[in-house]
Amino acid sequence: MEAGTEAQVSEAQIAVHWREEEYYHPPKEFVEQANAADPAIFERFGEDRFPECFEEYAELLTWDARWQTVLDTSNAPFWKWFVGGRLNACVNCVDRHLASSRNKAALIWVPEPEAEETQAITYQELHRRVNEFAALLRDFCGVEVGDRVTFHLPMVPELPVSMLACARLGVVHSEVFGGFSGSACGDRVADSGSRILVTMDAYYRNGELIDHKAKADEALATARERGVEIEKVLVWRRHPGEYGSQSPMVEGRDFFVDELLENYRGKVVEPVSMPAEAPLFLMYTSGTTAQPKGCQHSTGGYLAYVAGTSKYYQDIHPEDTYWCFADIGWITGHSYIVYGPLALGTTSVMYEGVPTYPDPGRPWRIAERLGVNIFHTAPTTIRMLRKLGPDEPSKYDYRFKHMTTVGEPIEPDVWRWYHDVVGKGEAVIVDTWWQTENGGFLGSTLPALQPMKPGSCGPGVLGVYPVIYDEHGDVVEAGSGRAGNICIRNPWPGIFQMIWGDPDRFVQTYYAKYNRDPESKDWHDWPYFAGDGAVQAADGYFRILGRVDDVINVAGHRLGTKELESAAITVDEIAEAAAVPVVDELRGRAVEMYVSLKPGVGASTEIEGKVTRAIETEIGKIARPKNVWIVPDMPKTRSGKIMRRVIAGISNFADVGDTTTLANPEVVDTIRQHVQNEKLARGEVPRELSPQELDDLKRFGRDE
Ligand code: WTA
Repeated sequence: MEAGTEAQVSEAQIAVHWREEEYYHPPKEFVEQANAADPAIFERFGEDRFPECFEEYAELLTWDARWQTVLDTSNAPFWKWFVGGRLNACVNCVDRHLASSRNKAALIWVPEPEAEETQAITYQELHRRVNEFAALLRDFCGVEVGDRVTFHLPMVPELPVSMLACARLGVVHSEVFGGFSGSACGDRVADSGSRILVTMDAYYRNGELIDHKAKADEALATARERGVEIEKVLVWRRHPGEYGSQSPMVEGRDFFVDELLENYRGKVVEPVSMPAEAPLFLMYTSGTTAQPKGCQHSTGGYLAYVAGTSKYYQDIHPEDTYWCFADIGWITGHSYIVYGPLALGTTSVMYEGVPTYPDPGRPWRIAERLGVNIFHTAPTTIRMLRKLGPDEPSKYDYRFKHMTTVGEPIEPDVWRWYHDVVGKGEAVIVDTWWQTENGGFLGSTLPALQPMKPGSCGPGVLGVYPVIYDEHGDVVEAGSGRAGNICIRNPWPGIFQMIWGDPDRFVQTYYAKYNRDPESKDWHDWPYFAGDGAVQAADGYFRILGRVDDVINVAGHRLGTKELESAAITVDEIAEAAAVPVVDELRGRAVEMYVSLKPGVGASTEIEGKVTRAIETEIGKIARPKNVWIVPDMPKTRSGKIMRRVIAGISNFADVGDTTTLANPEVVDTIRQHVQNEKLARGEVPRELSPQELDDLKRFGRDE
């Protein structure tokens, strides 16, 4: 594209040109120092070397007993990796680094208020804190190997400390994103059967000290409704000794961790040697029903996989200062803030607050001050920083050798800003495609060996073999220009073990679609169905188009439509609700709710407000709908199913597709006029959607 015409080209037109994106090659300085710079690595991970190739990742860890079987497929598709091996994840992330790096920073925590001191926590100090908290969990709470403990913690060092303490004990942790509501937390507590909830009194967000403990009381009530009783609530204090919440502490149930820790000073807990296939943690994610899925991750396979991918794809060396600007409440933070980087003994930076507080120069000030050289974030953050501070990065003196993007497709022009302005043209970028279920990356370029292509994640990562199938299970060939369902042909060590408590749903959701024989013990018969649409270019690079199920990806986070709708229906006046995605410049997608009212109830802005509040309470502010539309009726099929595809079209000023099969086609025009006129009146000027976005909307709700 000629430079002079760029300014007039709309995003939609740029998207049309996605196929013509040119390669960017890694700078020589990067290649010279890269962990994976010898192309022989592709042979080591060739398909003929599967599954033994993954021993290279397992060998990055310290094992108490070496495995006998690399991959056990006898109970397909419940894969078992490194069977017979024993290890402790905490030892691998903390203890084993003491000999060489006792006083090196393991974590550097940056509080949101700039006046508050940054905390560097050395490996020695981390070891101390983890052991003391592990002793407390074991002796005061009585947790045992295999028990689940739920955390509802914000971005504070107490979160990795709590995770590693559980790992030390062989206890399964389940962190619920701090921004989620108390009731969303309670649901996850109940599903996992946790008796202990670990939370914090308050934390900073956007300059405000937010009361967080109040959510624990809601979580408790929700869990109780579902028959699960939380026995103890452990409350870390953001400022030890000072209580930052209005919520009363309940005698005998709620405890300040800083007070309890007085009894555990200097205690050292013997790490429990765990079988490789013991669960390490649960991470809940949204699916097509209201019930979120607890993805159960293993100890040995998971840790090996995040260590290996951190080494080769994040190019982490022990001497790097690595900053993954994500929340540990999501899988990215588990794998690539805590477990991967610490397994490799590097310094991992954590930031408490929002990217643009107090101004959009903040991330670059942090990078400059700490000497960050590897930076990792999501397109939604990149878009926001570009919008609010397009020239900020050049004002700061930092140098990134490597940058990552994760969580949703990145538009090529946003990619270029990331590369040219944030990376100052000197950093390689990896666009990493994967999911909560996967443990670690599935699609990416190996940064020193494969060129970057804006908008494409790249080919399958080492030892991972993706394929695109059409609805009949036929392969969609690379370079055909056709989209289909991206699947992974083989298991890999980071794959989750199952959906907590629901093995049938696990098989049904991820394997049934393309399984060739339910009795087969051969992994070749069990392609993993990722649930994303994708196209593969002739060079083997994948472009991910988004979810094929009813999940709305807001700022890189999956929200289930059913969960949103169930929340809306908790409002008394609401008869029916439908959640649809609307294209949003910053967040990628935002949620819009359509609701119809019970007979005799009149529409009012008050009801709209109630729906918004219900969603915030049930799910969290992240899900706050951009608009709530009260409509006389929903467009429905003759069998009574709401046609979300049609209302998604209306919300996005796009084609609504075929409406002739509707039971009530006349309602479509009524809704369109109401919604679109109102949007125009509110100044929500629609822009032309890219073919990619149109495709995405068309796929939304397609099964109804
Ligand atoms: C989407 C986040 C395009 C995809 C790690 C996937 C992406 C869902 C990318 C998983 C990427 C993630 N390019 N799309 N680089 N990374 N996605 O479970 O639709 O929160 O299925 O895991 O995000 O989201 P999750």
